Amino acid sequence: MVSSRSDIASEVGSEIMAQGGNAIDAAVATGFALAVTYPSAGNLGGGGFMVIKLADGEVLALDYREKAPADAHRDMFLDSEGNVDRRLALSSHQSAGVPGSVAGMLEALSRYGTMSPAQVVAPAIRLAEDGFILNEDLAGQLRGNFNSFRNYPASLSAFANDGVPYASGDLWRQPDLAKTLKAIAEHGRDGFYKGPVADLIVSDMRANDGLITHADLENYEAVWRSPVHGTYRGYDIWSMPAPSSGGILLVQMLNMLEPYAIGELGWGSRETLHLMIEAQRRAYADRAEYLGDPDFVEVPAATLMSKDYAERRFASFDPVHASNSEDMGAGAWPEESPQTTHYSVMDAMGNAVSVTTTLNRSYGNKIVVPGAGFLLNNEMDDFSSKPDTPNSYGLIGRVANEIQPGKRMLSSMTPTIVTRDGTPVLLTGSPGGSTIINTVLQVVMNVVDHKMPVERAVSSPRIHHQWLPDVVRYETGAMSEAVEAELQAMGHKGLNGSPFPIGDANSIGYGNGLLEGVSDPRNEGGVAGF
Ligand code: GLY
Repeated sequence: MVSSRSDIASEVGSEIMAQGGNAIDAAVATGFALAVTYPSAGNLGGGGFMVIKLADGEVLALDYREKAPADAHRDMFLDSEGNVDRRLALSSHQSAGVPGSVAGMLEALSRYGTMSPAQVVAPAIRLAEDGFILNEDLAGQLRGNFNSFRNYPASLSAFANDGVPYASGDLWRQPDLAKTLKAIAEHGRDGFYKGPVADLIVSDMRANDGLITHADLENYEAVWRSPVHGTYRGYDIWSMPAPSSGGILLVQMLNMLEPYAIGELGWGSRETLHLMIEAQRRAYADRAEYLGDPDFVEVPAATLMSKDYAERRFASFDPVHASNSEDMGAGAWPEESPQTTHYSVMDAMGNAVSVTTTLNRSYGNKIVVPGAGFLLNNEMDDFSSKPDTPNSYGLIGRVANEIQPGKRMLSSMTPTIVTRDGTPVLLTGSPGGSTIINTVLQVVMNVVDHKMPVERAVSSPRIHHQWLPDVVRYETGAMSEAVEAELQAMGHKGLNGSPFPIGDANSIGYGNGLLEGVSDPRNEGGVAGF
């Protein structure tokens, strides 16, 4: 079974398994297909994380996060007055980190897949070359971003129909992207990181003050890391370690909540919401201080994820009053857009794969590499360009996440697998920048604490607090008016209905011999299986 943001990509993954491939083959095929059918976040020019639970019990975490180019430097996004130049950090060739997706997906395939690159890339080539019919969801996105694409001839050529926006029902072909995919099918990672595709990337960088060089591309390597492991009420939580903050914060928050009888306190109750907000506040405050690329900074992961630390960190919890984030720092309101994407795959042998991938913002920096047909990421904004200054998600960072050559920027992506007695029971994850970790937290709590079936666990309304700004965002229905008033009376600030859906958790549940695939109803997407 495959659950992803694109029904076409889910079908691709399912067909690969029907042909005899395992979940790793299917996850990689789905990833390449998403680069064609869901270009706002599916990608060749971005990065991602993959958590794999093999049928033999081994759990693995693969990091293919983008890296800062060798010529990057700490103050590269500061203007002459020392302020962050938002355009440079988000909408320039310099905003792109060295892409990791192709290296990562092919690394997973060669170690744990059974098929060749040519076999798993073939469906994506077909979709790019022959095209597919645009639905209103995707046509609307291309229309909505039309003005940004107009700034770059290659972007306009890829995402518009002879200079005018595509309409739903149009056939959409991507011939340049098909060429790049063919190079990957034929030459593996060298088809992207060396040769004509690399030449196209580097010449576009040179022409536009970009930093990525041939050496940056050739030197890029995906890294296998020890997965984050925590426990929650008898379940095992497996997730992504640093340079993601996701797994560490997820386990930290669950540890803080475990001593409380959340199930009895009830979903959406004042008590449960107060506990969740206070756990979120403390965990996100620690994120700003301690988390960064473990290849560059000491990340105290074991401490942050220990039950002892959670007890100490939560000792200041006051059951009747909200804490004050301002005692810990300052921030700004985050906006959310459809950027990152998550997909889950499970095969009949019991192999499970949970993948989150991203260009950072929707359609990355909106720059298509001329002749190569794929978008560049703007992941460099996930670094802390200036201490205590919010990035585009309102997230604050400090020295641990400052820009350094070759370093990976801190992420919130939280691809997660929950197991019980060694068997996967839930595969989940989400896009949503800073909100990702809280979306995953709530899907896990809904299954474990509130005993919801996965469909309800995913569809139930969510809340989000990220320490700073000291405000609670919530989806309609996440709390009653009476509970909102009670939380306000306790001192919770800025309780605000979210103008955007929070998260897109394409998940799979497993129990009683049945797989339950759920495409998050907040967005279009699809589940495919057989
Ligand atoms: N670019 C969003 C994240 O990695 O958290």
